[in-house]
Amino acid sequence: MHFKDKVALVTGGASGIGKEAALRFARHGAKVAIFDINQQTLETTHEELKKVTGDAIAILGDASQKDDVEACVEKAIERFGTVDYLINCAGILRDGLIAKISEADFDAVIATNLKGVFLFTQACVKAWTKAPLERIKAAKAEGKPVPTPSEFPDRRIVTISSMAAEGNIGQVAYAASKAGVLGITRTAAKELIQYNIKAHAVQPTLIDTPIIGDLLTKEDGKWKRFYEGRIPLGIGKPGHVADAILWLCSEESCFMTGNVLQLNGGKLGEL
Ligand SMILES: NC(=O)c1ccc[n+]([C@@H]2O[C@H](COP(=O)([O-])OP(=O)(O)OC[C@H]3O[C@@H](n4cnc5c(N)ncnc54)[C@H](O)[C@@H]3O)[C@@H](O)[C@H]2O)c1
Repeated sequence: MHFKDKVALVTGGASGIGKEAALRFARHGAKVAIFDINQQTLETTHEELKKVTGDAIAILGDASQKDDVEACVEKAIERFGTVDYLINCAGILRDGLIAKISEADFDAVIATNLKGVFLFTQACVKAWTKAPLERIKAAKAEGKPVPTPSEFPDRRIVTISSMAAEGNIGQVAYAASKAGVLGITRTAAKELIQYNIKAHAVQPTLIDTPIIGDLLTKEDGKWKRFYEGRIPLGIGKPGHVADAILWLCSEESCFMTGNVLQLNGGKLGEL
């Protein structure tokens, strides 16, 4: 896959899946902006990225805050001239049964995982549709045919949903947020293809990243054995998801939008 001179903006890019995607984009020639709320991991990952490319910036902020999101998109465009790919990875996990989860935990998950995806999508779409809208308006005023999608730059949005979007015991907030982003993705796909903006989501099963905390080590590895027994291809690695993200941004996948790709490790239908 070739991403020379392309620009990827990766939210939650300091850790896990986002970090792996950022590094792989950089190795394939892209310019990369990572955005994250965790200053320490953001700085460490930025240092790693800089060893791969001189064209990497790190932006500190909170995906649930409109001002932070807009400032991030502005900074990326100011530095690199544009953004070609928005990769929505920022996410948090607050588990709890329906009867027990606190309102604060529910709100926090929705704010980051769902509203954050909306805010980043909106900020990029505003920037991306400015020139196309002017061209469409001018064509209409001059009585000329409106430009077709392929006359506009090919942009992609890839959002990390989860197999939990199908419903998962103890994850009501997380599942709601991850189902919600599928709604955003499918709406974006329908609404934005006229501007050549394509939107996809990926649904990973369990991936070994910091978001799962001590799940794989606690209780003498009981949960590790449990998930290894349920997922035929084993617990996933960030690279499994990152490769799918890159493919969904590549020239090779240019003739599709609105797809939801399951990274299920061979386990169909649930986490
Ligand atoms: N690991 C899994 O099993 C798994 C499975 C399915 C989906 N996902 C999703 O993949 C995405 C990436 O998670 P990961 O597994 O790499 O975990 P991770 O914890 O390694 O990465 C998530 C990143 O998001 C950042 N973040 C959290 N809240 C933020 C906010 N408000 N603003 C900006 N950044 C914020 C964190 O600091 C972290 O760097 C998440 O959306 C997660 O829900 C993970």
